[in-house]
Amino acid sequence: MAVFPIKRLRRLRETEKIREIMQEITVVPKDLIHPIFVQDNLKSNDEESMISMPDIKRLSIPNAIKEIDEIRNIHIPAIMLFGIPSYKDEIGTSAFDQNGIIQKTIKEIKKYHDNKIVIVSDVCLCQYTNSGHCGIINNNKIDNDISIKTLTKIAISQAESGTDIVSPSAMMDGQVSAIRQGLDDAGFSHVGIMSHSAKHSSSFYSPFRDIAKCAPKFGDRKSYQVSFTNPNESMREVEADINEGTDIIMIKPALSYLDLIHKAKEVFNMPLAAYSVSGEYALVKGAAKQGWIIEKEIVNEILHSIKRAGADMIITYFAKYFAKNFYNL
Ligand code: PBG
Repeated sequence: MAVFPIKRLRRLRETEKIREIMQEITVVPKDLIHPIFVQDNLKSNDEESMISMPDIKRLSIPNAIKEIDEIRNIHIPAIMLFGIPSYKDEIGTSAFDQNGIIQKTIKEIKKYHDNKIVIVSDVCLCQYTNSGHCGIINNNKIDNDISIKTLTKIAISQAESGTDIVSPSAMMDGQVSAIRQGLDDAGFSHVGIMSHSAKHSSSFYSPFRDIAKCAPKFGDRKSYQVSFTNPNESMREVEADINEGTDIIMIKPALSYLDLIHKAKEVFNMPLAAYSVSGEYALVKGAAKQGWIIEKEIVNEILHSIKRAGADMIITYFAKYFAKNFYNL
C-alpha cells in the first residue's frame, strides 16, 4: 500500500516572524496611484464631496496642491488626475483648452512639486461633452474617428502643460495610435501612455460618474467599453493597445476582473496597472460604516489580491488609507 507522508506546510506558519520571511506578495505605497478630482471655479478653500465616495473630494487647484503634499509625505509616487470643467459643449472644448482645469492644474502641480510626483492625466471627453459620452456625436452616433482626433488634441494640450503620462480612457479604436503619433509629431516623444486597455462596461463606475459629473445623458457606454462576458475580446483590446504603442496596459475594474489581470500579465508581460474603481471603494466603505466588515483588513486583502493576480501598480481610492494604516506614515 502506498504511504502518503504528511506534508507539514504549517511548519512555516508557526510564528509571526517565520510568516514574515515567508511572505510572497507585499503591497507597498510605491505600488499605488491616487486619483484626484479637480473642479474648475471652486474658491481656493472650497471642496465638494459625495456621499457615495467618502473621504474623496472635488478639490480646488490650491487644495489639490496641498493634497499632493500629503500624498508625497506617505511615499505614494503618482496621482491620476481627473478634471471637472466649468463648461461643457458638443465637442468637449474645455478638455483641450489651454486654460482648462486639467491644463491649469498640471502647470500648478509642476510648479510646486516639480518631478516629485508622477502626473498621470486622464484623456477622455465624458466630463466635457453635453452628451456625457466619451466620444463626439455625429449623425446620432459616437463617431470613432472624429473622437480620436479630439482625444489627440487633449493629450497634446496636457503634454504642453507638463504631464508625465497620458491615460486615454475613452475606449475609442485607434486612440493609442493617434495619441502616440500626435505626441511624437508635437515633440513629446518622452510623454508616456497608460491606456485604459480593457475597460469594461461596468456598474462599478456609478460613484465616479457622480463625483466627476460625467454620466451619459442618454444610452450607455456598451458600444465602446468591453463586455464583462467577453474575456477573449478583452485580451484583443490589450493586444491592440500594445501594437499601437502603449507603454502601460490597464485592466479596469480590478476586483471582479482578477482573471483578466492575471491573463494579461501572463500573455503580454507588459507593465500592468489595475484600476480598483469607485464602486469597489463604495462597497467596502458602505459595509465598513455599518460595522459589517473590518475595513483595514479587507483593504489589505483586496490590494494584495490585485497585486497577486499580476498588477504592477494599482490605482485606488484607498491609496492614502493603506499607506497611513500599514506604514505608520
Ligand atoms: C470615464 C471614466 C470612468 C471611470 C474613469 N474614467 C467612468 C465611465 O467610464 O463611465 C470610472 C472610474 C471609477 O469608477 O473609479 N472616462
